[in-house]
Amino acid sequence: MPPPTLLLPHDPLAERRVDPHYSAEAQLIRGLGGGTALVDHDALLAGRAAEAVRRVPADTGPAWYRGWMLPVAAYAAFERALADRGCRLLTSAAGYAAAHELPGWYGTFEGATPVSVWLPADAGPGELAAAAGRLGSHGPAVVKDYVKSRKQEWHEACYIPDLADPAAVRRVVARFVELQGEFLSGGVVLRRFHPFVAADRAGGRASEARVWWLDGEPALVGPHPDTPGERPDPDLTRVRPLVRALGCRFVTTDLALRADSGEWMVVEVGDGQVSDLPRGTDVSALLTALLAA
Ligand SMILES: Nc1ncnc2c1ncn2[C@@H]1O[C@H](COP(=O)(O)OP(=O)(O)O)[C@@H](O)[C@H]1O
Ligand SMILES: [Mg+2]
Repeated sequence: MPPPTLLLPHDPLAERRVDPHYSAEAQLIRGLGGGTALVDHDALLAGRAAEAVRRVPADTGPAWYRGWMLPVAAYAAFERALADRGCRLLTSAAGYAAAHELPGWYGTFEGATPVSVWLPADAGPGELAAAAGRLGSHGPAVVKDYVKSRKQEWHEACYIPDLADPAAVRRVVARFVELQGEFLSGGVVLRRFHPFVAADRAGGRASEARVWWLDGEPALVGPHPDTPGERPDPDLTRVRPLVRALGCRFVTTDLALRADSGEWMVVEVGDGQVSDLPRGTDVSALLTALLAA
């Protein structure tokens, strides 16, 4: 089988150039002898998948994507449009959904990740109260959608100090839904909050390790892109079999160390194609592994 081609988004302002956010990666891949092709991210988001892939040469064969996150439906259209040109994404749309959206991976990681429940974005007060009940009706929690939180607006739209306060639950969830607007993915997720070892002593968010898995093996263990200077060393014993059970070839897991129990927990799982790389980390081993996969 030929080595996979790396599909990258083009610069929104220059369709023959790679998006500046991915240019260092593109250079590394080419330096390793890998082939690249450009796709149009805006066209993918707009539902014009055939147009988005028109620069991918016919009969490209197997391919990985490395680019901005796509909604699951857009990824499925991307997969079909590529197949029409003889190009096969090595992560199927079903695999992408399983790693990208919390309800897709939660069942596999249950016990190793904070207890979570999800509900429609337009859920009423009764449904919200029932969801809080399923989390135990007391203690702190966090809100996100199937893919992203609004961690930058921590107190306003992410952190619920106490599930026993229904007004606070409603307020934080409503603000989250309002701020996400049309970009809300799937539905609303409520998760039990655990104290994690923080990135800084000023009470910052958790210091996370991002582990990049290829075919069930860790191909890169590095910091989370938000804290690129850290050198975390997570224990992967518990996570490895769970990643294998998920059955996706290329995924990331973000791990944080619980301040109370000292165990590494999975904060979130992601599709490796759309997870951001930390700046300043040598990623050539990961890219070499991708080209050999
Ligand atoms: N259950 C939780 N307990 C404690 N902190 C959490 C929890 N979930 C998220 N966080 C904190 O909020 C941040 C954002 O949550 P995350 O699920 O990673 O969303 P995003 O997709 O926006 O990165 C995490 O990096 C972590 O610091
Ligand atoms: Mg995160």
